[in-house]
Amino acid sequence: MKLTNTQLADFERMGFVSIDDALNPEDLNTIEARLKEFSSKDYPGHVLEKHGQSYRAFHGCHLYDPFFNNFIRSPAFIEPARQILDGPVYLHQLKINLKAPFNGEQWPWHQDYIYWRNEDQIQKDAIVSVMVFLDDITEFNGPLYFIPGSHKHGVIEADKTSDLKSGWEADVSAALSYQVNADLVSQYVDAGGIYSAKGKKGTVLWFHGNIVHASPSNLSPFQRRIAIFTYNATHNAPHDADQEKRPEFLNNRDRSELSPLTYELID
Ligand code: SIN
Ligand code: MN
Repeated sequence: MKLTNTQLADFERMGFVSIDDALNPEDLNTIEARLKEFSSKDYPGHVLEKHGQSYRAFHGCHLYDPFFNNFIRSPAFIEPARQILDGPVYLHQLKINLKAPFNGEQWPWHQDYIYWRNEDQIQKDAIVSVMVFLDDITEFNGPLYFIPGSHKHGVIEADKTSDLKSGWEADVSAALSYQVNADLVSQYVDAGGIYSAKGKKGTVLWFHGNIVHASPSNLSPFQRRIAIFTYNATHNAPHDADQEKRPEFLNNRDRSELSPLTYELID
């Protein structure tokens, strides 16, 4: 599945592009079953919300689950990632953010690439993410907010803001390590507005590593689960392994080029 020229132009201009009905129902059903299973196990990369009542995220599921290890190679992801990054790609990160009904906490305004540069030693922003909607996402259950065009500002340098100043936990907490300050957010929103990423289960949304985004807590009784796969250009893989401190479930150490795979469903 390739992006059209119009979709590529939208991505370039806005920093994201959303595509409805991009996944088949069988895959969505398989993921549903997998998530149930993951919830009952204690895998590395599972993170609870601060209040401890519900899971915030499952990271690195491809490392232990064969379905996800195949799914990240789906042509629906690899072909657009290659188009956007203009060449071969590997998976840098996979996460499933759960934002549970009533309990799922916020994600403050931030950019993603600053984490991958500062923590994982990825030198250029030749990196892109795709968000997969695992539930219908509405104004009620904590949609992501994107500021159109904000990726054009490049990396917005930020001091670590979290109380948890060291350790990867802060990078995935509701008190995120690197945030974009309110003055800049106001300025960028004046220029570009805010896009609320709503859509049906099965929508995918490609977004740039430097786009400024956030999401509110989930006060609704509805689930809001998303998967985010981040692909890096193979030429942009980090070179200094000694400086890479984060665990493999946040910083995938397998940098081999991914080929599109027509995979078999695994029950
Ligand atoms: C993110 O910014 O990476 C995720 C935000 C969310 O899950 O709402
Ligand atoms: Mn983010």
